[in-house]
Amino acid sequence: MRNRNHSYLLVTGGAGYIGSHTVVELMEAGHNVLVLDNFSNSSRASIEGVRKICGKEPILIEGNIADEELLQNIFKEHRIDSVLHFAGLKSVADSVSQPLKYYIENVGSSLCLFDVMECNNVRKIIFSSSATVYEPAGEQPYSELSPTGPGNPYGKTKLCVEQILHGLAVANPNWEIGILRYFNPVGAHPSGLIGEDPKQYPNNLMPLVMQTAIGRRKKLEIYGDDYDTPDGTCIRDYIHVLDLARGHLLALEYLERHPGIHYWNLGTGKGISVKELVEQAKEITGTEIETQVVARRPGDSPIAIADPRKAKEELLWHPEYSLVNMCADHWNWQRHHPDGYQ
Ligand code: NAD
Ligand code: UD1
Repeated sequence: MRNRNHSYLLVTGGAGYIGSHTVVELMEAGHNVLVLDNFSNSSRASIEGVRKICGKEPILIEGNIADEELLQNIFKEHRIDSVLHFAGLKSVADSVSQPLKYYIENVGSSLCLFDVMECNNVRKIIFSSSATVYEPAGEQPYSELSPTGPGNPYGKTKLCVEQILHGLAVANPNWEIGILRYFNPVGAHPSGLIGEDPKQYPNNLMPLVMQTAIGRRKKLEIYGDDYDTPDGTCIRDYIHVLDLARGHLLALEYLERHPGIHYWNLGTGKGISVKELVEQAKEITGTEIETQVVARRPGDSPIAIADPRKAKEELLWHPEYSLVNMCADHWNWQRHHPDGYQ
C-alpha cells in the first residue's frame, strides 16, 4: 500500500529504550512516525506502551536496517522526510569480545541505511552517538571540540559512523546531519508504560540499582571507591531520557534552518558519583540497596561530564529533570514492570 500523502520520520531502533521515548516526543509534537526495528533488543510491547501514551501508534515494520531491499521498499512506499538512527548494539563488554559483530552491526548496517537514503534523496538524519567517543582520560567537562579517541570497539564504531556522516556532509552540502552525543541516559516516561528493559545482564548502573531495589539482584557491586573524586567513586553525567528525547526534536528543527553537520553533547553538565546515585535511589525506593565495593572496572574513566552549552545555545535545549525525577521515574517503571515488558 503506498502511503505518500503524508511525510514520515523513519526511526530505526524505535522500539528500544531511547527510541521509544523519542517516538512519544515526536508523535506528541505532531509528526508521523515509522519505526523500523528487528527487536534484537526490544519487543513490540514498547510500541503498545507508546500507543497508550499518545492515543495513536507509529507504523511499525519489523526488519533489519541492513536489509537493503526492505529499506528501498520503505522509502518507495512512504514519503520519508528524515531519519532518526538509533538502531545498533551498545554493550561495551560484548564489543570487546566480538568486535567484528559490532563493526558489521553498527557500521556496516549504517552504510546500507545511508546508501538507501542517498538513492532516495533523503539527506536529513539524527544519529545516536555517545560520550564514549571522547578520549577517556580527556580534560573535563567534554565539549564537542574535546579530543576523540574511544578506548573500546563500541566507541570506535560510533566514531566511525560519525566520520562517515562527516564525509557525506563534505561531499554534498544538501546533507543535514545532527550528531547527538549522549551522556548517561536514565529514567523512564512518568506514566510507567515504557522504560529500559535490558534483555541480558544490564550494561549500565541505573538498571542494576533498580533491579537490586526490586529484589532481582542481591546486591550492587560498586566498581572501585579509590578514584580521585570526593567520595572515591566514579562521576558521571546522568540525563533523563525525556530530556534526551526532546533534544532530538529540537535538533531536527535546527537542521531545517542550518544544513550541514552539527555535533551536540546531551548531558546536564552536572556530575553525580556512584555513591550519590545509590543514596538517592535508596531514598526514592524506600529500600536498603545492599552494595559491595569491588575492583575497578577496566576502561572506566573517573569522571565524564558534558559541557552542554552548545546544545543550550543553539537548540535552546535545557534539561528539565533532576536526579530525583530520574530515580523516581526509573523506579516507577521498574515497580510496574519488575520483569521488564514480559
Ligand atoms: P536499545 O538496545 O534499547 O535500542 C536499540 C534498538 O535498535 C533496539 O530496539 C534493537 O532491537 C534495535 N536494533 C538493533 N540492531 C538493529 C538492526 N540491525 N536493525 C533494526 N533494528 C535494530 O538501545 P538504546 O539504549 O535505546 O540506544 C539507542 C542508541 O543510542 C544506540 O545506537 C546506542 O548505541 C546509543 N546510545 C545509547 C546510550 C545508552 O546508555 N543507552 C548511550 C549513548 C548512546
Ligand atoms: C558506559 C560505557 C560507555 C557508554 C555509557 C552509556 C563502559 C566502559 N562504558 O559508560 O561506553 O557510552 O555506558 O551507555 O562500559 N558501575 C558500578 N557498578 C555497576 C555498574 C556500573 O559501580 O554494577 C559504575 C561504573 O564503574 C561507572 C558508573 O557506575 O563509574 C556508570 O556506569 P555505566 O552506567 O556503565 O556508564 P559509563 O561508565 O558512563
